[in-house]
Amino acid sequence: MLAALSLFLLVRLWAGTVDAVPRPRQALRCAASSFSNVVSLPGVTVTVERVDSVSDRGKYSESGNLGFPQTIDLLPALCAVTIRVTNTTDVPTKPASSYRFGMFLPTSSKWNGKMLTVGSASFAGGINWPDMGQGPHYGFATISTDNGHNSSGSDLSWATPARLYDWGYRAVHGSVVVGKLLVAHYYGQSISWSYYAGCSTGGRQGLREIQYDANSFDGALIGSAAWDTQHLMPWISRIAVDQLNTTNGKLGSQQMSILAAEVLRQCDPQDGLTDNIVSQPEQCNFNISTIICSDTSSCLTRAQAQVAMQIWGDYIANGKFAYNGFDLTSEDQWAVYFGDDSTMTGFDFDYERYWIYNDTSYDWTDFSDQVVADSERVNPGLATANNFDISGYRTRPGKKGGKILMYHGLADGLISPRTSLYYYNRTMQALGSDISSMRTWFRYFQVPGMQHCFFSNRYNAPWDFGGPGQATALRLLPTLGVGLPAVGDGWSVPGHLNDPNYDVFAAIQQWVENDVPVDKFIATAFNSDFSTYRTRPICPYPQRAVYKGSGSVNSAANWNCS
Ligand SMILES: *[C@@H]1O[C@H](CO)[C@@H](O)[C@H](O)[C@H]1NC(C)=O
Ligand SMILES: *[C@@H]1O[C@H](CO)[C@@H](O)[C@H](O)[C@H]1NC(C)=O
Ligand SMILES: *[C@@H]1O[C@H](CO)[C@@H](O)[C@H](O)[C@H]1NC(C)=O
Ligand SMILES: *[C@@H]1O[C@H](CO)[C@@H](O)[C@H](O)[C@H]1NC(C)=O
Ligand SMILES: *[C@@H]1O[C@H](CO)[C@@H](O)[C@H](O)[C@H]1NC(C)=O
Ligand SMILES: *[C@@H]1O[C@H](CO)[C@@H](O)[C@H](O)[C@H]1NC(C)=O
Repeated sequence: MLAALSLFLLVRLWAGTVDAVPRPRQALRCAASSFSNVVSLPGVTVTVERVDSVSDRGKYSESGNLGFPQTIDLLPALCAVTIRVTNTTDVPTKPASSYRFGMFLPTSSKWNGKMLTVGSASFAGGINWPDMGQGPHYGFATISTDNGHNSSGSDLSWATPARLYDWGYRAVHGSVVVGKLLVAHYYGQSISWSYYAGCSTGGRQGLREIQYDANSFDGALIGSAAWDTQHLMPWISRIAVDQLNTTNGKLGSQQMSILAAEVLRQCDPQDGLTDNIVSQPEQCNFNISTIICSDTSSCLTRAQAQVAMQIWGDYIANGKFAYNGFDLTSEDQWAVYFGDDSTMTGFDFDYERYWIYNDTSYDWTDFSDQVVADSERVNPGLATANNFDISGYRTRPGKKGGKILMYHGLADGLISPRTSLYYYNRTMQALGSDISSMRTWFRYFQVPGMQHCFFSNRYNAPWDFGGPGQATALRLLPTLGVGLPAVGDGWSVPGHLNDPNYDVFAAIQQWVENDVPVDKFIATAFNSDFSTYRTRPICPYPQRAVYKGSGSVNSAANWNCS
C-alpha cells in the first residue's frame, strides 16, 4: 500500500515536473526566416522588420524610436526581433490596425517556457525595449508593442481614429496573439505560462487586455495604473485651469516644496511613527492654515492654498464624481504637470485639442466641466479600462485562475493612488465579492512614500521591489540628468536577485504556478552609494505595515502586516 502510494506520488511528481518545467528543444536560428510565414490568421499580415543577435551582457536600442530612445545594457544572450502587424478584421466598423511589437528571446537553455508582455508609458509610441530588458534575465520570452505610432510620451498630436484604437487596446491584444504563436514556433514548444507587467499607461494596458480577453495572461503585475483615461485627462485640465484662472493662485515649484515639507511635518507623526515616511496620508488631519501668510517666499497665498485643496480633493463635475484627487505627500511631483512656466502647456489641453474636439485652436479658456461628459461620450480609442467585471479572468477555464498583483505609490503626483483603490473597489462590487474572496486572486498593495512607479525623493521610503520599469530606472539614472551612475543588474532588486521575498516578478510566478499567495513583499531604499538604507514590508490592502515596537525601524524584520 505504502509502496503503491509512493509510486503514485513519484509518477505524479514526475508527471508534474514534466508539465511544469518542459525541456525546450534547440530554438530556431535567430534569423528572419524563423518568424516569416508562421502566422496565418484571416485579415492579418505579419512582417519581420529586424532581427539581431545580442551577446551576453550586451546592449540594445532602436534608432529613431521617439518613445523609448534609450539604450538598455547588461542583457543576457538573446534574439531581438521587430514584427509589424496589420489587421483589417475590424473594417469597415473601425479603421484598419497597424502596429509593431518587439521580442527579446533568450537562448533555449535560458528560456523558462513562459512569455512576458511588457507595457508602455504615458502616450509614447515606440517599442519599450528598455523595460523589456528585465524579462529575459528571468528567462521570459518578452514582448512589447509600439502602440501603433511613433512619438514621445508627452505628444498627443498623433491621434487619428486608427491610432487611438491601436493605443487603446488593439496593439497590445494583437501582439499577445501573434507573440504567443511566434514564440512557440521559435522554441518548438507551446508556452506554459503567460504574464503581464506594466506601470502607468502600462498598468492601464494590462487591465484593459484582461478585460478584453481573459485568456491572454495567467498573472499580471499592474503598477500605478492610468486606467481611467476619459476622466484622468479632463481632471488634469481642470486643475490646470484652476491655476490659470486666478490672479495669484498659481503654484510654483517653490510652493509645492513648502507644501510637501509641511505635509511631512504634520502627517508623519500622525501615522504613529516619526520616520520621515507618511505611511497613512489618507488618515492625516492636515491643517493648511499654518502655511498661509503674505510672505510668498515661505508661505502660500489663500488662493494657492485653495488650489492645493482642489488638487487633493476629488473632482466632481456637473454634480457627479469624476476622478480622485492626489493623496497628501504627492506635492513634489505636481511640478511634472504644472511647471514654473506660466502657460502650463505640455499635454494638458492637447487631450481636448486632438482627442476630443479635434480643434487645434482649443485652449484653456474653452475648458468647462462639459469636457467630462464629452470625454465619456467620445471615449477615445476605447482606452479606458472600466469594464470591471473580470470574472472570466478570475476563473480562466482550462487553466488555473488568473492572478493580479496591483500596487500604487501613495506619493504619486502623476496618477492618483486613490484611483487604484477605486478600481479595486469597483471590481469587488462588479463581482459581488468581498475582500477575503478578492485576496485569493487579486491583491492591491499601497506603497507609502513611493512616487510614480519608482523613487522616493523626499522620504527615501522603500520603493524598489523589482516592479515593472524599476530595474530599468536604475540603469537609466545617467539619462535623467541627476548626476547619478547606472546601478543594478538590469532586473530584479540589487542584492536580492529573483528572490520572491523582495522581487514581485519572482513572487507572482510562485503565486500563479505554485499557489503561494503574495502575503507581502519587501521594498528596499538605498543610500547615496546604493547600499541598502532601509527595507519594509509592503502589505496587501487593507493591511498595512506595523512596527513591532523594538529593533531598527529600518529593517523589514521588525515590521508586520496587520
Ligand atoms: C520615428 O520617427 C523618427 C523621426 O521622424 C524616424 O527617424 C523613425 O524612423 C521613426 N520610426 C518609425 C518606426 O516609424
Ligand atoms: C482630426 O482631423 C484630421 C484632419 O481632418 C484627421 O486627419 C484626424 O484623423 C482627426 N483626428 C481624430 C482623432 O479624429
Ligand atoms: C485582429 O482584429 C480582430 C478584431 O478586432 C481581433 O479579434 C484580432 O485578435 C486581431 N488580431 C491581431 C493579430 O491583431
Ligand atoms: C490650523 O492652523 C491655524 C494657524 O496656525 C490655527 O490658528 C488653527 O487653530 C489650526 N486649526 C486646527 C483645527 O488645529
Ligand atoms: C474663469 O473664471 C471666471 C470668473 O469666475 C469664470 O466666469 C470663467 O468661466 C472661468 N474660466 C474657465 C475656463 O474656467
Ligand atoms: C473603497 O472602499 C472602501 C470600503 O468600502 C472605502 O472606505 C473607500 O473609501 C473606497 N475607496 C475609494 C477610493 O473608492
